[in-house]
Amino acid sequence: MGDYSSHFLMKTQDAKAYAVEVLGYFDPAEPLEAVEIGDGNINYVFKIWNPQTGRSVVIKQADKLLRSSGRPLDVYRNKIEAEILKIQGQLAPGYLPEVYHYDETMCALSMEDISAYKNLRKELALGHTFDHLAENLSNFLAQTLLPTTDLVLNRAEKKDRVKLFVNKELCDISEDLVFTEPYDDYKGRNIILPENMDFVKRFLYEDEQLKGQVAMLRDRFMNLAQALIHGDLHSGSIFVNQQGMKVIDPEFAFYGPMGYDVGNVIGNLFFAWANRYYIAPQDKDFLRWISQTIGDTLDLFLEKFSEAYDQQVSFSLYKTPLFKANYMDELLADSLGYAGTEMIRRVVGDSKVSEVTSVEPLEQRLPLERSLIQMGISLIKNRYRFEDGQDIVREFSLIIER
Ligand SMILES: Nc1ncnc2c1ncn2[C@@H]1O[C@H](COP(=O)(O)OP(=O)(O)OP(=O)(O)O)[C@@H](O)[C@H]1O
Ligand SMILES: [Mg+2]
Repeated sequence: MGDYSSHFLMKTQDAKAYAVEVLGYFDPAEPLEAVEIGDGNINYVFKIWNPQTGRSVVIKQADKLLRSSGRPLDVYRNKIEAEILKIQGQLAPGYLPEVYHYDETMCALSMEDISAYKNLRKELALGHTFDHLAENLSNFLAQTLLPTTDLVLNRAEKKDRVKLFVNKELCDISEDLVFTEPYDDYKGRNIILPENMDFVKRFLYEDEQLKGQVAMLRDRFMNLAQALIHGDLHSGSIFVNQQGMKVIDPEFAFYGPMGYDVGNVIGNLFFAWANRYYIAPQDKDFLRWISQTIGDTLDLFLEKFSEAYDQQVSFSLYKTPLFKANYMDELLADSLGYAGTEMIRRVVGDSKVSEVTSVEPLEQRLPLERSLIQMGISLIKNRYRFEDGQDIVREFSLIIER
């Protein structure tokens, strides 16, 4: 028997033993294989399976030190991930890996293996399309967000949850990387192509109007404890196949503005569109599908959210048409604004996306980066003007065809 009474970082052999001894998921006599499949910057992910039966389990373990840089990061993130997976799993059945076990000492979250689904970012970069995507993304967002607000949830319970999900260190990462450094490179971490430096200075660092708008979005991110949000819902946290979709990695979860999740989804879909447009402009089918999917995801989300609102909100003041209309307007504006901040930070910040970095020829890369930044700026500045998905699809078409 291994000793799991204090935290240590597991190796694949330990993970195998853990799956037998702690989880009891396998019999000691079973033949087992194990690999570490983590491809992110933060944690360690083990897959353990019996090659004869095909049964498998995934264990995600947080170390006290970041996998990439080795700096310390609060392991409480692992508890947050386990808790939100359980809550969202009930709200949106089928969209999340089932949680089998959570070990607070080992900071190990054991869950369903979703290897039958593939990383959406990578799939889109290969030009693969998924007819169900807008439907499933909008379902997931509409089902997980509203029921965690105090429009629906008992208000005392909501406050307890706000407390449980205080995520100081991971929010701090977003506050810097998403909402500060792309506009004020005070830590000197931005990575900008020399050819785009003047562009970034003029349109990001020196635009006081834009910086004021970003400050408003930052302030809402930090102070609007509206709903339990995933907090890192980019296309590498979304897994798909032709049958459906799974969402993983909610360790950045906290009580924040719902539009942050919606905006992350929308913003990341624009990377797929832009990447394809600049490297394979002849692929009209994909370009048609991705633009349609972006518009539909937003429109279907708003439609489903509005229906859910009518069904789930019962408090008389919140049922007034004025309140609901204002709430929906703010939700749309937040969603667009946060799509904009996501698009900008992934181009100029130090946490880039492969849709940008994989494009090497400068004659593609420079306009790709500029159009993403311009779209980000437009989404932020015009977030109270755009009315629906078609508006933002039209806007990006105009920007890339200029
Ligand atoms: N339940 C699961 N089933 C199958 N594979 C999984 C599961 N959870 C995670 N993975 C795999 O492990 C990889 C890393 O997982 P995850 O993104 O949760 O880790 P992370 O260290 O938090 O990453 P990041 O740096 O992006 O925050 C995923 O990209 C996926 O390939
Ligand atoms: Mg993560």
